Amino acid sequence: MNGTVASTGDRAGSVAVVTGGGRGFGKSFGEALAAEGAHAVLVDRDGAEAEAAAAAIRAAGGSATGYAGDVTDEARMAAIMAEAAAAQGGIDLLINNAGLHSDEYSQPIAAMGVAKVRRLFDVNVMGTVIATLAAKPYMAGRAGANIVNISSSAAHMGGTAYGTSKLAVAGLTITFARELAPEGIRVNAISPGLILTDTIRNELPEATKVRVKAMQYLDAFGEEADIVEAMLFLSSARARFVTGETLRVTGGMAAGI
Ligand SMILES: NC(=O)c1ccc[n+]([C@@H]2O[C@H](COP(=O)([O-])OP(=O)(O)OC[C@H]3O[C@@H](n4cnc5c(N)ncnc54)[C@H](O)[C@@H]3O)[C@@H](O)[C@H]2O)c1
Repeated sequence: MNGTVASTGDRAGSVAVVTGGGRGFGKSFGEALAAEGAHAVLVDRDGAEAEAAAAAIRAAGGSATGYAGDVTDEARMAAIMAEAAAAQGGIDLLINNAGLHSDEYSQPIAAMGVAKVRRLFDVNVMGTVIATLAAKPYMAGRAGANIVNISSSAAHMGGTAYGTSKLAVAGLTITFARELAPEGIRVNAISPGLILTDTIRNELPEATKVRVKAMQYLDAFGEEADIVEAMLFLSSARARFVTGETLRVTGGMAAGI
């Protein structure tokens, strides 16, 4: 992970499931939660990456397991949640992080074509629904249980199919906050701005990074640690009165929207 996150070690005995946990934000979320004592369950359509990320956490002294699973696969998600809950005693935190977000999903809809748009919504929107419903039975009634969805600043800026899929994630955050409150489950989201994950660092043209930075109030590039800190707050007891919110972490880029 780039940047520094302080470890407070106050999640001993808790179980956190992170979708898209093989790399990027998901991998960093797993590392940070394990550093605080949680057992991290990393789920990724790339099972080898999920297992490698879990092995790295174990090598660092933490507790983690990796699973191959696509968030659009209802049966697989149900099986993973059931197995993880049986092995660990339940689920306390779900992070719906798996998402498609490369440049190809920010092209005009007519250019993308129906099949690609359908897959985008299937992963980003239905993946959130499917993982949430699969985890819910094992989270219900557990003290402090909560869900953190990963939306995007693109949701608040409009204009692309990707942004629209992430606007649906922000909407689902409110819907599930209402529907799951009786089960004692809080639901919040984070909308990251431009964050220099390895993928963005390597793939986004330098000119685009500079252009986006100029839209921010803060003259700095966002790092994974900035999103990890937001996740650690929202998923902790410190946010016990916060539900249905989307926290924008954009260096001020989204402030004027
Ligand atoms: N990096 C940014 O600047 C940024 C900004 C805003 C929002 N986001 C969002 O944050 C999330 C993570 O982004 P990242 O930069 O870490 O992405 P990434 O591409 O580096 O990693 C995403 C991970 O999700 C996995 N994945 C993709 N589709 C999946 C599926 N159907 N089922 C299971 N796993 C799947 C991939 O294999 C990969 O390991 C995404 O939802 C993205 O839209 C990222």
